[in-house]
Amino acid sequence: MSIVKFNVLTVPEGAGAVLEERFAKRAGLVEGQPGFEEFQLLRPVEGTDRYLVYTRWKDEESFQNWLQSREFQQGHAQAAADSGQAGHGHGHGGPAATDSELWGFEVVQHVIAER
Ligand code: HEM
Repeated sequence: MSIVKFNVLTVPEGAGAVLEERFAKRAGLVEGQPGFEEFQLLRPVEGTDRYLVYTRWKDEESFQNWLQSREFQQGHAQAAADSGQAGHGHGHGGPAATDSELWGFEVVQHVIAER
């Protein structure tokens, strides 16, 4: 079964539009990575004010390989430029995100609608 990794972003009030704008201009490299299955950028509506970046991968190794890749670095070039660090691990994302946290899951069931 696949694994799911969430990047959980703290975004100051009013900066959501900036974050979404950055994702609108994202590198578009993750979709070509081995083992990548899908991603969604999720805007908070109730229960939290943090944005979630949902990603699903074939296995842990595929995710780790992407984290180490040039494509990850390039995919975080704007965030890294703002914070003065390559957007790895913990941290800072300049004006858009002030903090981030990684959540990891194993998929136990995955159900999609009957067509
Ligand atoms: C320090 C931590 C992180 C911050 C602040 C951050 C923030 C951002 C931002 C602002 C973008 C839009 C592009 C840009 O502005 O450079 C982006 C792209 C992206 N982020 Fe992160 N991110 C972080 C780590 C992660 C992690 C750990 C994951 C996966 C769980 C992830 C998943 C993605 C994906 C899938 C994209 C689109 C990349 C592409 O199009 O190739 N991010 N991130």
